[in-house]
Amino acid sequence: MPNSINKLSEMKSHGEPIVMVTAYDYTSARIINDIGFDAILVGDSLSQVMLGNDTTVPLTIDEAILHTRSVVRGAANTHVVADMPFLSYNLSIDTALMNAGRFLQEGGAQSVKLEGGHHICKTVEQLVSCGIPVMGHIGLTPQSINQLGGYKVQGKSKEQASRILDEALALENAGAYAIVLELIPVEVSKQITSKLKIPTIGIGAGIECDGQIQVMHDILGLFELFTPKHTKQYVNLAEQMRFGLKEYMREVKDKSFPNNSHSFTSIQNS
Ligand code: KIV
Repeated sequence: MPNSINKLSEMKSHGEPIVMVTAYDYTSARIINDIGFDAILVGDSLSQVMLGNDTTVPLTIDEAILHTRSVVRGAANTHVVADMPFLSYNLSIDTALMNAGRFLQEGGAQSVKLEGGHHICKTVEQLVSCGIPVMGHIGLTPQSINQLGGYKVQGKSKEQASRILDEALALENAGAYAIVLELIPVEVSKQITSKLKIPTIGIGAGIECDGQIQVMHDILGLFELFTPKHTKQYVNLAEQMRFGLKEYMREVKDKSFPNNSHSFTSIQNS
């Protein structure tokens, strides 16, 4: 049975940092699950890192559910949060409820994540009242990239910072069980974290959040198009993949692979 959302709130009350990472497939989810992460996000960043789109906007609900299901199969003990794609929760509260329900029923996720502040609070209330735990996401909200005009730090002015704090409080009142804070100054995330009872999970929001989340492909050096300032690359898997694939190619070309140990024969030695 995966961790429940209660574990994350207990961690906040004990001051124990929450660690989350994204995953989009079964094999990675198994590894993350074995290591013992507190939760996995099937982020809509899969639109860029797995599907090759420029932004998160083109991701469809069917694509997101397919990836959620594969992660859930690999994450036997880990809470899986499914990121609801662009427009899948904005058309009406009923549509949001139906689509969030699909992530739990078809995808097998234990909760969903929605981007936005005041305008989604009624939706959050309704999902929560129907038994669907909701993680919020404020600060930089990548689904609004066409409106924001780029991946810029949010909440730098006093007015913006207090708007983000108001949004956080409104989401908590609406019943969100945790909130992702993306690309906001450390002072702002510190203030939000101290005012909220629910955990804050930061990405580019500094050390004062209750937990951290990173895109797996960034920390493992798998996504080479750009490395955001807020990430740290712990290994360079792209280089290792290149090495392994080149070795395989070389050995096939020079006929050193496969050798007898990788081959089968019908002739029995007596
Ligand atoms: O989709 C994603 O990877 C996210 C994280 C940046 C929090 O939403």
